Amino acid sequence: MMKLICLKNEREVSIRAAEIMSEVIKERPNALLGLATGSTPVGMYRELIKKHLDGELSFKEVRSVNLDEYVGLAPDHIQSYADFMAKNLFDYIDINKENTFIPNGAATDPEAECERYDRLLDRLGRVDIQLLGIGHNGHIAFNEPDVCFTKDTTLVNLTDSTVKANSRFFASEDQVPKEAISMGIGRILRSKRVLLLATGEGKADILEKALFGSVTPEVPASILQFYQGDLIVVGDEPAFKIIKQKHSEAIF
Ligand code: F6R
Repeated sequence: MMKLICLKNEREVSIRAAEIMSEVIKERPNALLGLATGSTPVGMYRELIKKHLDGELSFKEVRSVNLDEYVGLAPDHIQSYADFMAKNLFDYIDINKENTFIPNGAATDPEAECERYDRLLDRLGRVDIQLLGIGHNGHIAFNEPDVCFTKDTTLVNLTDSTVKANSRFFASEDQVPKEAISMGIGRILRSKRVLLLATGEGKADILEKALFGSVTPEVPASILQFYQGDLIVVGDEPAFKIIKQKHSEAIF
């Protein structure tokens, strides 16, 4: 079932997304969270930290798995996703860091690291709620437009457009790693719920294509139309601009 929630602005998206995540944690204190990086969830992480500092939410038993990591960056590298998670969430909550899992970008054999990550995911079981952002080209995690949908964790070449988009976090474009380890789409579809966040007009076009266009590996997020669990899409007015024009009846 797909539920589309259109809110006024990014702040409201962050607050609502944090509420959805915290409900899952309250219901199941040892919930397995599927986490994402990027700009979109930063505000939601801040709201979760606030809930924790207010004494409303504990992450003591929570476990987490991240979607992806750059190849070549060690966990303590300032641009690694491991460092992103520490700085944007983990350092400020009571989660046991031993229960937080991210592919190791510094592994000497990245293919073997993909394999290791899959075995880990098998052991941890189904993700209770998988958080996703969406790339301008429709990627989810680092599953880029392709001729087929990936199943398991894979080593991926980032497209030029993704490298360009992510260069905003680096001193220059040539410092952006060109490869990443990414959870496969098959893995993402195994989770019990998916929470997809989108903010800003730049996502309006691709969000409409992904949720209402053809289901094709050229738009990896379009597979979410076939997802069997609960798909909750929370976005702001600018991100929902095209959907509102074409499918206003679908908005909750
Ligand atoms: C990050 C990830 C990516 C981002 C996507 C959107 O872990 O998996 O798919 O969700 O690139 O990024 P932002 O939020 O920066 O627009």
